[in-house]
Amino acid sequence: MSCVRLTSVLLFVALSSLSATATQANSLSRRVETIPWLDYAGIESVARDSLPKGIDRRALADSAAGYIAARESSSSTPKCKKIEKRKEWRQLTRGEKKDYIRAIKCLQTKGNYGISAPTDTLFDAFTQACALADKVHTTNFLDFHVNSAFLPWHRWFGWIHSQAMRHECGYLGTIPFWNYSMDYKNPTGSPIFSKDPEIGFGTHGTIIRNEIGQGGYQVDNGAFANFKVNIPAPHYLTRNFSFWKDSDPDGVWGYQLGESYSPQKVDWVLTSPTFWDLEVNVEGLNVTGYFGIHNSLHYMNMGDWNGPGWVNNTIWASNGTAAPNDPVFWPHHQNVDRVFWTWQQRPGKQWEYNGYKSSDFIRTPSPDLPPPEPAHPTDTLPFYGLGPDIPVKLALKTENWPMCYTY
Ligand SMILES: *[C@@H]1O[C@H](CO)[C@@H](O)[C@H](O)[C@H]1NC(C)=O
Ligand SMILES: *[C@@H]1O[C@H](CO)[C@@H](O)[C@H](O)[C@H]1NC(C)=O
Ligand SMILES: *[C@@H]1O[C@H](CO)[C@@H](O)[C@H](O)[C@H]1NC(C)=O
Ligand SMILES: *[C@@H]1O[C@H](CO)[C@@H](O)[C@H](O)[C@H]1NC(C)=O
Ligand SMILES: *[C@@H]1O[C@H](CO)[C@@H](O)[C@H](O)[C@H]1NC(C)=O
Repeated sequence: MSCVRLTSVLLFVALSSLSATATQANSLSRRVETIPWLDYAGIESVARDSLPKGIDRRALADSAAGYIAARESSSSTPKCKKIEKRKEWRQLTRGEKKDYIRAIKCLQTKGNYGISAPTDTLFDAFTQACALADKVHTTNFLDFHVNSAFLPWHRWFGWIHSQAMRHECGYLGTIPFWNYSMDYKNPTGSPIFSKDPEIGFGTHGTIIRNEIGQGGYQVDNGAFANFKVNIPAPHYLTRNFSFWKDSDPDGVWGYQLGESYSPQKVDWVLTSPTFWDLEVNVEGLNVTGYFGIHNSLHYMNMGDWNGPGWVNNTIWASNGTAAPNDPVFWPHHQNVDRVFWTWQQRPGKQWEYNGYKSSDFIRTPSPDLPPPEPAHPTDTLPFYGLGPDIPVKLALKTENWPMCYTY
């Protein structure tokens, strides 16, 4: 779930050791290429303008230097040509849904700009950037989960994905979000999981696939029937919707997980007084099992969307770090983004950013740990080659260039 949440303290320990191994393997890394449809100079220019002079600017220049030659900020700051309004999945026309799914699949035919292994595709590069113990770069799941970076990081990540769909695969339609609060009593029955071969994300399928552990069932219906993904190793896209019921502590079909994103619960989360409170409540950090608007959706499944935790009986990474393997990751995360956006519309909230940079104190609360480092809008968000690293501040307003969208 890379973009998901972590299930236990034990898991965190596992993550730390995997991370160390990955660092040692990093000597094989390939050169990351510039992505032609991203305006690196423009992004650097707006980033510079957004930062106070001095050390933060220098840090940004250092991070950008791996991708572009240093240059003066452009004299005119780029501006949005238009602002796109995102729509709920059900509001897209059949033609738009079909084209959106076509474009996601099309990313599986494109090169990955050196972000992932040479045999991987651009589709895989997004999973790679989210993954933990990867083959090329060392990414760190905990740089953008269980801490303040979670919401802005995923916002920018989703925007880059939308740009890849547009520029590599010609998707000119609206980017959808899945408002799963509409389906909170029966999410696996949502129309988004239709078996329609053109516009359905499909169900969990019928063919058991044991090679990715509790990976579940090969998705064999809908538009992604028999779809193959490559991280951490080539395999069929899998889901297991029964996990939804079995992981619910109440033992009732999805009850407690669903309640964590009911319309009433979302309304309550939107009353969070500070950005950090919002983050804690969206990721469910204060709740047993971390059930929340974000994690509960990953927990309904046990396939790629929530894993795989291991491949061929070998532990590979934490549950969830390969979540973008499942295309429903995108409409799910655009909904998390929409909740963030909605909170930001409250008076005085557009630019509010606070809380903590690290998840250590949540991982193992202990008086022996140093106090958590406070988060600032000038902190850098890492994208591991999916475009330049950016200061958080650039991801705080969706209507600003270069994101240029609204809800
Ligand atoms: C999301 O769904 C809930 C529940 O039906 C509804 O109250 C809310 O208005 C919806 N929001 C959007 C933006 O679709
Ligand atoms: C599906 O998940 C359940 C737990 O909810 C597990 O018992 C079962 O073995 C899984 N099935 C497959 C095929 O992975
Ligand atoms: C989360 O729990 C901690 C410890 O109980 C508490 O101090 C904090 O206020 C809680 N935060 C939220 C957003 O509820
Ligand atoms: C993934 O989650 C399942 C269910 O909670 C757990 O049994 C398993 O140990 C986890 N895998 C890893 C690698 O942490
Ligand atoms: C698991 O191992 C088997 C036997 O070596 C191999 O055929 C299969 O491709 C492997 N699966 C994955 C996902 O690596």
